[in-house]
Amino acid sequence: MEVISNRHEIYARISHERHSGRSVGLVPTMGALHAGHISLLERSREICDVSVATIFVNPSQFGPKEDFTRYPRTLEDDLAKLERAGTDFVYVPDSHSIYPPGYSTYIEPPAVGNRWEGECRPGHFRGVTTIVLKLFQLIPATVSFFGRKDYQQALVIRKMVDDLNVPMRIETCPTLREPDGLAMSSRNRYLTGSDRQQALGLWHALQAASDKINAGERRVSILERELKQTLNDHQIEQIDYAVVVHSETLEPLETVESSAVILIAARVGTTRLIDNLLIEG
Ligand code: PAF
Repeated sequence: MEVISNRHEIYARISHERHSGRSVGLVPTMGALHAGHISLLERSREICDVSVATIFVNPSQFGPKEDFTRYPRTLEDDLAKLERAGTDFVYVPDSHSIYPPGYSTYIEPPAVGNRWEGECRPGHFRGVTTIVLKLFQLIPATVSFFGRKDYQQALVIRKMVDDLNVPMRIETCPTLREPDGLAMSSRNRYLTGSDRQQALGLWHALQAASDKINAGERRVSILERELKQTLNDHQIEQIDYAVVVHSETLEPLETVESSAVILIAARVGTTRLIDNLLIEG
C-alpha cells in the first residue's frame, strides 16, 4: 500500500493505472474508519483492479458550531485497517494543499440537497460537493463508492456527477450496522454509555415505521407520528427531522408510494446522528 500526500503524484499514479487499462475504485473518507468504510473497500476490490482510499477531514463541510476540531483523527489506525483491507493507494492531503490561501471556488449543490441536511447544516453540501469534485479531479477513478447511511449525500453526489458530466460511476453501498442495529458511524465514538442505548432509538423508530408500512399503513402523517413517538420513548427529544419522503427527490409525501425513504436526524447527548431506511415499493 502506498501512502501519497502530493496531489501531482496521486494524479500521475492513478492516470498511469487508467492508461494501462486497469479499473480504479475510489473510496473517499474523513478517516476514523469503521467496518462500513472497509465494506466499501471490499466492494472496490471485488470489481476494480486497483483500490484507492482518501483520508481528509474536510473543513468546508462543517458549520462554525460543528465538530470539525473534535472530529476523531486516527491516521495510524486507519492506515493499518486500509492495509489489511488490501488498499493499493491512500491519498492523505494536508488542508493547505486542498485549500491554499486565496482558495475561493465552490460547487453549488443540486436541489436534492436543499431540504433536510441542507436546511439543518447550511453550507454542508457545498463543502461536500466541492471536496468530492476536487478528489474526483485528482483521482480519475472508474467508480467511486459511498455508503447509503449518508443517503442524501449519495443523491447529491450522483446528481452533481450527472449534471457536470463527470466521467465517474457512483455506487452506493448498504449501511453496515452493529449487531443491535445501530448504524456504523465515525461519530458513534462520541456516544457515552447511556447515549449508546438511547441512540438505538433511531433504528427502532425506522423499524417501527417500516413494520407499520408492511402492515398496510400508507399515511405519512401516521408514520411520522410513529417515528417521533419511538424516538421520544428512547428519550430522544432533539429531533431535526423524522420524515417519510420520496426516495429520489426527497420531497415530502402524503402517502407512501412505490418507493420512499425514511430519514431521521436527531441529537443524542451532544452527538448528532442520522439514519435512514429505504422502503422499496
Ligand atoms: O461521507 C464522508 O465521509 C464525507 O462527507 C466525504 C464524502 C468523504 C467528503 O468529505
